Amino acid sequence: MLIKLSDGRSLPIELHRIKIVQKTELQPIDLRFKKIIEAGCNTFILKSRDVFIDMLTDSGTNAMSDNQLAAMMVADDAYAGSESFFKLQSAIKDVLGFKLVLPVHQGRAAEHLISRVLIKPGDTVIMNYHFTTSKVHVLFAGGMVEELCIDEALNTESIHPFKGNMDIEKLKNSIKNHGREKIAFIRMEATTNLLGGQPFSMDNLKKVKKIAEINKIPLVIDGSLIAENAILIKRREKGFEKKSVETIIHEIMSLADIFYFSGRKSSSSRGGAIATNNKELFDRMAPFLPVFEGFFTYGGMSSKEMEAMAVGIREMADDDVAGTVLDFVQFFVNRCVEEKIPVVTPAGGLACHVDAKKFLSHVPQSEYPAGALAAAMFLVSGVRGMERGTISMERDKDGREVMADIELLRLAVPRRVFTASHIEFAVDRLKWLIKNRHLVHGLKFFEEPPVLRFFVGKLKPVDDWMERLVIKFKKDFGEDA
Ligand code: F0G
Repeated sequence: MLIKLSDGRSLPIELHRIKIVQKTELQPIDLRFKKIIEAGCNTFILKSRDVFIDMLTDSGTNAMSDNQLAAMMVADDAYAGSESFFKLQSAIKDVLGFKLVLPVHQGRAAEHLISRVLIKPGDTVIMNYHFTTSKVHVLFAGGMVEELCIDEALNTESIHPFKGNMDIEKLKNSIKNHGREKIAFIRMEATTNLLGGQPFSMDNLKKVKKIAEINKIPLVIDGSLIAENAILIKRREKGFEKKSVETIIHEIMSLADIFYFSGRKSSSSRGGAIATNNKELFDRMAPFLPVFEGFFTYGGMSSKEMEAMAVGIREMADDDVAGTVLDFVQFFVNRCVEEKIPVVTPAGGLACHVDAKKFLSHVPQSEYPAGALAAAMFLVSGVRGMERGTISMERDKDGREVMADIELLRLAVPRRVFTASHIEFAVDRLKWLIKNRHLVHGLKFFEEPPVLRFFVGKLKPVDDWMERLVIKFKKDFGEDA
C-alpha cells in the first residue's frame, strides 16, 4: 500500500511484520573495488557475502510467509504420489484454473519441455518480447524468435500503461508472411522482464488469443509474474477497477493453451510448473517429464518446495502480497524521476530499471553501458544490480555482437525483503553517480563463454576509470565509506 503522509508525499508501507532477518555488511570502497575487479566486473560473480543490498534478482530471493514455512514442515517426502504434489495441483486448479500440471525444477525447465515438443526446426516463435532463457530454448530446438512488442515498449520514457502488449498488425502480418504452420506458438510474457517489468492488457491478450485461435496456433503464457500483471490490469485498465485479482488471473488463464511459470520468481524459493487444460498438448509433453525433470509428482522439486509453492500460489492472488512489491517499485521509480535519474516508466513489476544509454550516453554500446553502470553502482554503494543489455544478448551465428534494443541496469525489489530506507540509499548513490557520470567509462570482455555469457563472462574496464571513481568517492564520502 502507498500511504499518504501529512506533507503530501506517499510512502510504501509494509503490510507484514518482519520476523526473521539476515545480517548484511557494507564493506569499505577499497574492498568493493577489489571484489568487483576480481569478479570480472560481472555482478553475477560477486559473492553474496560481499554484497550490501542484493538487488540482483527477485528469483529465489523473496521472503517466505509464516504459512509457507509452516507448510514445509508437513511435507510428504514420497517419490511417487506425494500429498505435497496434490496440494500444489489443487492450488493451481483453484487459483489458475488448470487441471493438468507438470511440475518442473524451475522456469527454464518448462521452457525446455515446451520448446522441445512444440518446435520443429525452422519454426518461428512469436513473442511480445524474449526472456534470455526462453530465447535460448527456442534456438536450441531449431526455432527462431520474432519479437512483436509495440513501438512504445522500446522507448524507456514513454508512459504507455501496457508496454508488454503485442503489436496486433505486426502479428497478423507475421503469420501471413511465415504461414501459420511455421509458427510453433505465440508466447506472451506477463510483466515483460526485459522491457522493464511491463504488463500486457487484457484487451491486447484477448486480441492475440483471437488471432491465435483462428490460425490454430497455441498461445503460451509465461506467468512467472502473473499476479503483478493482473494487479496492474486492475490498476490501469478500464473496466477492471472493481474486479478481484483472483478473477483477473482466472480471466487471463482462460485464454492460455499452456501456462508456465518460474516458482522462484513469485510463489516459492524454487521450482516451476507447466499447466494446461489441453489434453493433447499435455500428452505430448508428459512423456519427457521423467526423462529430464523427475517423476510426475515432483518433477525435480523437493516436497518442501512443492508445499511452499502451493501456499505461495494461493497467497499471490492477495493484492497485499504482489501489490506491496509494485508499490515499492513505484516508490523507487518515482524517487529516481524526482532526482532526474533516467529510468523506465511507468513503474512495472519486479524492479526499477535505469536507462544506461541515457545515464552513460558517452559510453558506446559496444562497451556495454549497462554492464559498466552495474559495476559502478556496486562500487559506490555495495548495491548489486543486474545488466540487462548487450551483455545479456547472444552473438549472432557469425560471431558478431548483437546490440540490445535497450540497455538497462535492473535493480530488483524482491518481495518483502527491503525497506524504504534501502531504496532511499540506492537512489542516493545513483544520484551521486549521475553527477559524476563522466568518470564512468566502458568495459571489454577478457573471458567470454559461448552461451548466456552474462552469467559467467568476465570483463575489465577499458581504462583506469574505476580507480578515478574511487578517488572522487573518497573525496566526497571519506576513506571508509
Ligand atoms: N521467464 C521469466 C519471465 C523469467 O523472469 C525467468 C527468470 C524465467 C522464465 C526462467 O525461470 O530462472 O526459474 O529458470 N528470471 C530470473 C530473473 C532469472 O532474474 O529475472 P527460472
